[in-house]
Amino acid sequence: MRALLLGEEDLIANLSNFCAVLKESFNWWWVGFYIVKSGELVLGPFQGTVACTRIAYGKGVCGSAWSQAQTLIVPNVHEFAGHIACSAATNSEIVLPVFNKQNEVVAVLDLDSEHLNHFDALDEKYLTQLLSMLQF
Ligand code: SME
Repeated sequence: MRALLLGEEDLIANLSNFCAVLKESFNWWWVGFYIVKSGELVLGPFQGTVACTRIAYGKGVCGSAWSQAQTLIVPNVHEFAGHIACSAATNSEIVLPVFNKQNEVVAVLDLDSEHLNHFDALDEKYLTQLLSMLQF
């Protein structure tokens, strides 16, 4: 990942390859970014099935990770009040906020799995490290 991202400044190019590396490495059901734009989350580069394009602040897992500015690990999305079901196949997910240098949330990384209880603190640890390689 580091070799791919270093030396390229274009954000869309880097977000796109970031998703492709994760998808190719782990084959999670859906891997993608939602980017904060004009007060809502808007679909960014992703790998996977067709997804909702806009998510409001505080809504769903993505909007909650944004409003709480913290990673959310959801072992069973069917038990998460307000979960936004873009794909009926999704059973668990992890959403990590992405911060700029001013420590504001500028995007979230959303990883969805068709398996229950698929993500844990180890995923959070290394995904956080990977995200720190991105320059917003
Ligand atoms: N799972 C997200 C919605 C986005 S899609 O699944 C791609 C949520 O509840 O925030």
